[in-house]
Amino acid sequence: MNALREKIQHEIREGGPIPFSRYMEMCLYDPELGYYSRNAAQFGKAGDFYTSSDVHAVFGRLLARQFEEMWRLLGSPEQITLRELGPGRGLFAQDVLDWSEKKFPDFFQALHYVLVESSPALRQRIDSALDKHLARGKAAMWTPQETSGAVAQTLAVRHGTTEAVAFPSIVFANEFFDALPVEVVGAEGSLRIDSRDGRFVETWSSPSSEELEFLDRYSVHPEAGERVEVPLQAQMHMRAAASLERGFVVVIDYGYSREEQLAGRHRGTLKAIRQHSVSDNPYEAPGEQDITADVNFTALAALAEREGMQTQRLITQSQFLLGIGEANEFADAFEDCRLPQERAKVALQLKHLVTPAGMGESFQVLVASKGISGEKVSKLAGLSFATRAR
Ligand SMILES: C[S@@+](CC[C@H](N)C(=O)[O-])C[C@H]1O[C@@H](n2cnc3c(N)ncnc32)[C@H](O)[C@@H]1O
Repeated sequence: MNALREKIQHEIREGGPIPFSRYMEMCLYDPELGYYSRNAAQFGKAGDFYTSSDVHAVFGRLLARQFEEMWRLLGSPEQITLRELGPGRGLFAQDVLDWSEKKFPDFFQALHYVLVESSPALRQRIDSALDKHLARGKAAMWTPQETSGAVAQTLAVRHGTTEAVAFPSIVFANEFFDALPVEVVGAEGSLRIDSRDGRFVETWSSPSSEELEFLDRYSVHPEAGERVEVPLQAQMHMRAAASLERGFVVVIDYGYSREEQLAGRHRGTLKAIRQHSVSDNPYEAPGEQDITADVNFTALAALAEREGMQTQRLITQSQFLLGIGEANEFADAFEDCRLPQERAKVALQLKHLVTPAGMGESFQVLVASKGISGEKVSKLAGLSFATRAR
């Protein structure tokens, strides 16, 4: 018997049916048995899924180039904090730090990299991957609790209750928001998980006013047979990210806009993923498969704007990376290649990151800024390709 299944069933026996978000939270983040807590072998070709940093270091290198340009746009401050949400094993951070040290020494000098990771197993992986940068204080690792403390401090400074120097910051999240627990709403109501005869069964209760308000503002009301996700936790994380004093928020993820939902797409995007195959059954093998829901970018952008940020038009990862890499013909990718075979292999990896058939069109990029002219921001390399293509 699956130990996590038993633990969830025990909770249901004690307190009654649980919201879907609680089920998803236990499956992914239960401290001992959750998917992200158990081990760190989910990522990469041998695991269940791979992310852009698994494909090639060029993803982090191109982003390092973009972050350096953002830093210059902010007036090259003496310190800038780059906070990465859900860094996993820290591969991306490693690529950004190493490339910045090599190519952008002034930016590297100013850079302070904070990794906010909730999984203890992944934090251990980060500890060894980034030992050099952690040891000399260039990087730091925070728990989500430490981050909320820091965000509360920023807000207190903004409202004049404490004094502190707030350096500009960039908050970055790749495939973070799609891994956060969501509520699920169908025409029958808000989904609850019950247990009967050792099996999970779906039941429905009246949606909360918060869920209904979310659907009214940012999504659609599901019709018979449809389901939509309500990402209340994502809202909370975006609010915290966007509360920075001055700087940028960059979110890259699978996702959609409300317009696409109105056109009938992206209604029900919940997926379970195991060994690179996707199923729509999240109740199988709890804790042994990843569960994700695509990101509602309309909601994220609206929240950023509510926190005083200016948002740029949503673009694809393909447009974003092409914009950053085209000026030097993706030299960042080929720097370590000595032989033609190595160049050919890297060219394929780059193609995978950029082209529609690979990851280029399935991922969207949201850039939000605060305290810088929106016109200047729209000229950033990563946004320029999409602007010209319009
Ligand atoms: C799909 S993985 C993406 C990892 C990495 N960004 C990448 O692209 O390879 C999602 C990550 O978010 C982390 N995570 C989930 N909720 C979190 C939270 N509240 N605070 C910090 N990290 C969290 C998970 O442990 C996991 O490492």
